[in-house]
Amino acid sequence: MASWYDAWADRYGVWTSGATEDIPFYVGLARDADGPLVELAVGTGRVAIPVAQATGRRVIGIDSSPGMLAEARMRAAEEGVELDLREGDMREFELEEPAALIYCPGRSLLHLPTWADRRRCFERVAASLRPNGRFAWNAFAFDHRVASAFDGQHVDTPLPHTSYVSIGENRVDVTLDEGGTGSLWWATKNEWLGLLDVAGLRLEALYGGFAGEPLDDDSGEYVFVARR
Ligand SMILES: C[S@@+](CC[C@H](N)C(=O)[O-])C[C@H]1O[C@@H](n2cnc3c(N)ncnc32)[C@H](O)[C@@H]1O
Repeated sequence: MASWYDAWADRYGVWTSGATEDIPFYVGLARDADGPLVELAVGTGRVAIPVAQATGRRVIGIDSSPGMLAEARMRAAEEGVELDLREGDMREFELEEPAALIYCPGRSLLHLPTWADRRRCFERVAASLRPNGRFAWNAFAFDHRVASAFDGQHVDTPLPHTSYVSIGENRVDVTLDEGGTGSLWWATKNEWLGLLDVAGLRLEALYGGFAGEPLDDDSGEYVFVARR
């Protein structure tokens, strides 16, 4: 299904060029996992490629954007790693074999607009994990000070864009100068914990950063690890 990302998938690498601190975190979880590895919303393989390189194992990557998957295919071939890339929706995915690790980096779960969309995704995760298998993801922690600083502001880097904050809809819209708007719907800690609860998953750890920092009032990121 065509999406916002298709139009600029070839420049997603520029957009995320500063984002590397999450990679060792997800690589560490993959190294600990004894069984299939799955990345939801794999995008261009920014994380899946180093995970496959570090573990020597094939990573299953699911994404709804054909353009992002085409980039991932090209980059994996360049890097000489094997990814099993599948076009699909993370609310509906099914695996042939239960996974040891399912992970969703890059705040991608925030692309799901409603709590019910995320519940469907978490239920698919729970149904697709081995007993004791892990589910990990990260998402920004909403901070009104940060939001008010960037709301309505145009910035030139990493790609020229303007962000708008809708408090009523708990949504951030990112509009690229070249056209097209992508949206992220933020969630609170208790919403995430509620999703684990209804899906029958248990929280293993909640960090405030990828180095395992404790979550506190200044944390910009939720980094979750759960188990089936
Ligand atoms: C911010 S990118 C993250 C890509 C990669 N995981 C990373 O960290 O660089 C978000 C990705 O989510 C994908 N996406 C958005 N909604 C999706 C859905 N419902 N199912 C599967 N993929 C989705 C987009 O196509 C895009 O590739």
